[in-house]
Amino acid sequence: MNPPADDLRLFAGAPSAIEESIGDGHLALFTALKELAKSYHSPVYLVGGPVRDRLMGWQMRDLDFVVEGDAPSLARSLAQRVYGRAIVHSRFRTARVELDGSGIDLVTARKEVYPTPGALPVVEPSLLWDDLARRDFTMNAMALPLDGDVEGLVDLFDGMEDLRCGIVRTLYANSFGDDPTRLFRAVRYEQRFDFTLSDETLDQFLVAVEGRICDTVSGDRLRHEFELMFLEPCPEKALVRATELGLLWSIVPGLGQGDWVSRWAKSKEGYESELGAEWRPWLAALAYPLSPADGEALVRRLNMPRRWAEVVRSSIELRSMETSLADAGLPISALVRLLERHHAKTIRIVSSICDSPDMARNLNRYLESEDNLKPALKGGDLLELGVPSGPLVGKTLADLRDLRLDRRISSEEEERQWVKGMVASRICASGYG
Ligand code: CTP
Repeated sequence: MNPPADDLRLFAGAPSAIEESIGDGHLALFTALKELAKSYHSPVYLVGGPVRDRLMGWQMRDLDFVVEGDAPSLARSLAQRVYGRAIVHSRFRTARVELDGSGIDLVTARKEVYPTPGALPVVEPSLLWDDLARRDFTMNAMALPLDGDVEGLVDLFDGMEDLRCGIVRTLYANSFGDDPTRLFRAVRYEQRFDFTLSDETLDQFLVAVEGRICDTVSGDRLRHEFELMFLEPCPEKALVRATELGLLWSIVPGLGQGDWVSRWAKSKEGYESELGAEWRPWLAALAYPLSPADGEALVRRLNMPRRWAEVVRSSIELRSMETSLADAGLPISALVRLLERHHAKTIRIVSSICDSPDMARNLNRYLESEDNLKPALKGGDLLELGVPSGPLVGKTLADLRDLRLDRRISSEEEERQWVKGMVASRICASGYG
């Protein structure tokens, strides 16, 4: 049963014209779809996340539509009308229409059967009701007609009531079993909106985690869920909660332990312009307390691409060097030798979450001196100054870099003098002087 329309509007605080909740990029597509839908023989509804966001008065980010009919054929007509591009996935009867860098998704209303937990579903066309009933949570199982009028809201599972009360609720008992990635989604929505899991949903969640339901999910799908967590407005809230509920531990024992993620969240403000709001800090903070073996288990489990794996390994290695890196008297040349293989961004993150203030100071000293790493003289200059070609050229460049880093020389002229002195002393030592 739907609550009265006035109540909905009051709660939603959403602009009355749906167009006002749609970003500029999507507007042309939406307007054309609305026109086209009038002459299309099957009903079209806005569904899922955008409906939820509109009812909560949030800007709608992505636009998803359900068609009681053939979504690919509607998508092709729409693409023709706006001179855009339709990308069709025949197996799922879904389509995306893109125009000037924006896109909307259209799905054929469908029933889903999950052959085994964690596997992708087998689908067959159906009606809106079935399509809503296959979804994850009541708040994501509502549909709006294209005019966006809340009086036309299709709310078969009391999603509006759950939105009002701030509750994340599954539609059916085996929802997490059918799709374990919903465990991550539950935590994200709960934390993003400051909601709570309903009692039954929490029970289902804990049973699913206890039953190691995530073991059935492929590494790529799991990694995608981590990516989505890292993109949340406050990733630390989702990560801390996922740890609290045992979800992260069920992926790799020890994952999420300690307060490293919260430490990063507290110190990140100063570094956001430098690092960007990206995945790296969260991954580095999660990996930091892991043993090398658990780190490798995480890399394997999430089937990590090289860049992700590097962050995990680097973060763990930096922690393992804590004793050496916390030596306050370490010359900068020694720091360079310890740190030069590590990415500056990972070093920055570790500098703000590590236990030891001396280690943090050393890491920051290293980062500040990074610009001075290279000597002014090049290999060719050394040859001109009389350094014999061969390994001595590389060694001399490394010596020059150390001298610069330790501030024993500071200009190109001093480098030249030093090289000349070194060449002269070699000649003396070889008896040609
Ligand atoms: N959905 C689902 N089960 C999943 C993934 C998605 O039932 N494992 C449904 C939900 O109805 C969801 C819709 O598909 O609303 C679209 O999914 P997605 O784009 O991932 O999420 P949004 O709801 O748009 O929310 P957001 O992107 O803001 O997290």
